[in-house]
Amino acid sequence: MPTYKVTFLPANTVVTADSARYPCGSHGEAGSVLDIALAHGVEIEHACGGVGVCGTCHIIVRAGKLNLSPPSDDEMDVVDMAPGNTVDSRLACQAVVRGDVTVEIPGWNRNLASEGPA
Ligand code: FES
Repeated sequence: MPTYKVTFLPANTVVTADSARYPCGSHGEAGSVLDIALAHGVEIEHACGGVGVCGTCHIIVRAGKLNLSPPSDDEMDVVDMAPGNTVDSRLACQAVVRGDVTVEIPGWNRNLASEGPA
């Protein structure tokens, strides 16, 4: 099974996700950006636990957009309500990684995360 490189900005943290081991943890869709992030110590807010309704896991895709599962209408409805959303925004808990991707964790989300000083 292939492995994929997931880069998290702005920290430029690069993790390797092994699709044979999806799900990596227990949050969000198996193999989602959130699933991979949390399993590798990258904090992303996920107030609803990864079921795609809260919008706190909003990320902006900077590269590899087509290497993520396509968004559902329900996901885009939630993204539309996320602060600072862009045309490249996704929900980390719903976007399943199928190739190398680079995503940015928005500042307001980072500041809520618990991995250390902002
Ligand atoms: S964690 Fe709530 S929408 Fe993704």
